[in-house]
Amino acid sequence: PPMDQNALKKQVGEAALKYVRDGMMLGVGTGSTVNFFIEALAASRIQLKGAVSSSEASSQRLRAAKIEVLELNDATTCDVYIDGADEVDRGLRMIKGGGAALTREKIVAAASRQFVCIADGSKLVDVLGKFPLPVEVIPMARSYVAREIVTLTGGQPEYRIGVKTDNGNVILDVHGLSITDPVKLETDLNQITGVVTNGIFARRPADVLLLGTPDGVKTSKA
Ligand code: A5P
Repeated sequence: PPMDQNALKKQVGEAALKYVRDGMMLGVGTGSTVNFFIEALAASRIQLKGAVSSSEASSQRLRAAKIEVLELNDATTCDVYIDGADEVDRGLRMIKGGGAALTREKIVAAASRQFVCIADGSKLVDVLGKFPLPVEVIPMARSYVAREIVTLTGGQPEYRIGVKTDNGNVILDVHGLSITDPVKLETDLNQITGVVTNGIFARRPADVLLLGTPDGVKTSKA
């Protein structure tokens, strides 16, 4: 029988251990694929210097595994950042933020030497944008930013009702995009006043992609 999505996530979560060494400061992202990585890390003998996490959920799992979780301000840089993605293309550019943690994810990724993306094969796309693009917005700017996004992209922003980010902001999910120039759209969206971050990770793509497939883990490098 074909491997189910969870088996593929587990496979890449375990494969990511290869990038982790004793004494490292590790950046850890968020999501079900990362949870498999944290499980594998907890079962290993690797002794980290510590970890920085992109969400409270991951911090709790790390602490439960007896791994010290530091504030990024106290950790300076991370050696490796390990995180999943909602979509990834062959240039290792990603859409992230399905879990609303995009801003912290982008900050920890920016402060890390190497970004290892772990994803099951269903996340690989030719062109980013089928997954609605998350944009974190200051609450009072929501309607203004939504109008500007329509003008800029032609996409349809949808307010993610009932969701507040860890930073107290709201999320607009932009539907109907076909992102042929991810670096430009990432940059242009950031110029709209009231936008905090958008979920395109293209100016700083992943350095390594571990893709879970029924034929095993496929590794790509930028
Ligand atoms: C969190 O905001 C996202 O960027 C996650 O990285 C993404 O949703 C991956 O989640 P799964 O590993 O659960 O697919």
